[in-house]
Amino acid sequence: MELAPVTIERLVEAARRAQKRAYAPYSKFPVGAAVLADDGQVFAGCNVENGSFGLTVCAERNAVAAAVVAGARPVAVAVVAPEAATAPCGACRQVLAEFSASMPVILATSDGDSRQIDSLDALLPGAFRFAKR
Ligand code: THU
Repeated sequence: MELAPVTIERLVEAARRAQKRAYAPYSKFPVGAAVLADDGQVFAGCNVENGSFGLTVCAERNAVAAAVVAGARPVAVAVVAPEAATAPCGACRQVLAEFSASMPVILATSDGDSRQIDSLDALLPGAFRFAKR
């Protein structure tokens, strides 16, 4: 799937706005994510940490949940983090692959023009899938 430059910027901007809302008092590593839905809408999420560390939820999974509760399905994702080329963790890759195994994954930083675009199937070859349901 080829994304128009204007769509990429829209996603990065939405992810940056979400990053500002991150709740990351423990890691101090705020992350914002935005998914493009099949109907053109954009849904954002941020990481939400917890004092019981294992309960932390990543920005990407919260963005996916926002899309799904609105009745939409993710087809691309942008991730904004303090460090360049912060790619989704393994768990989030699997959650994203549920909706489109080859979706574009845009990586950007909190500020600056650098953009890295990967395909999800390169980041998670052999994602789990039920054969038929
Ligand atoms: N985190 C995300 O939200 N997304 C990523 O792609 C990488 C990691 C969060 C989880 C935790 O709150 C913090 O970043 C440090 O791992």
